[in-house]
Amino acid sequence: MEYLDFAIELARAAGDVLKHYSSREKQVELKGRANLVTVADKESEALIINRIRERYPNHAILAEESGASGPADGSEGKWVIDPLDGTTNFAHQYPFFCVSIAFEQGGQLQCGAVYDPWRDEMFSGARGMGSFVNGQRMRISDAATLRSALIMTGFPYGFRDKIQRIISQFEGFLVESQAVRRGGSAALDLCYAALGRVDGFWELDLHPWDTAAGVVILEEAGGRVTDFSGKPFSIYGKEIVASNGHIHDEMVAVLNRTSV
Ligand code: IPD
Ligand code: CA
Ligand code: CA
Repeated sequence: MEYLDFAIELARAAGDVLKHYSSREKQVELKGRANLVTVADKESEALIINRIRERYPNHAILAEESGASGPADGSEGKWVIDPLDGTTNFAHQYPFFCVSIAFEQGGQLQCGAVYDPWRDEMFSGARGMGSFVNGQRMRISDAATLRSALIMTGFPYGFRDKIQRIISQFEGFLVESQAVRRGGSAALDLCYAALGRVDGFWELDLHPWDTAAGVVILEEAGGRVTDFSGKPFSIYGKEIVASNGHIHDEMVAVLNRTSV
């Protein structure tokens, strides 16, 4: 598929930019109290956007650092980009970060690529065509119960205003699952669920660029993605629960009990 091939090409080129900067000293700026941005975020995004502009001048773009650009209606398609997901990890040389690029058309996510330059893992998926890691087909795990499941989560930058709710959800999963991990890159968390390295993921207040590519990849690997009440997920919404499907209702039940 043309758009998927292009997303993969862009993610790999942008991943090379991240790799180049990863072992160098970082100039870190603050976008909020704990929300960082580095020269790598900016260069990665500039590379991706310039190449899209050259190839598809009529497509819209939604990218984390520069926001929305291109035709406002996005009727010919929209690229949703996180040039560096896991900036805090990156700034601390903790090797769990990636580039995430998705393509949306007709209001539907069509395909996505997530590239981890550290492990050289390229995750990709396209609607109706399955998902792959470095060309190998991916399938979700077969964990059947929350009690036997490894769950991932993340904490939004604005968590201080919602600390009770976040801690209560965290406590719920800590008690009911086998274990909980906090990776620091939502896009990779979703790809890890697609690959069966983990069984489920939830997070509050993510942005479209954090989830767009990972969601297509997980769904195409057989996973399920909804909001906290089990209703259809939108990348423009604020809640995500993602899983291998088997443990989904149990995850939604924990969130219902703990989302006070
Ligand atoms: C963040 C990561 C992290 C998640 C945060 C995101 P960024 O993205 O995905 O895992 O917990 O909510 O904002 O800022 O590193 O691109
Ligand atoms: Ca992000
Ligand atoms: Ca980012």
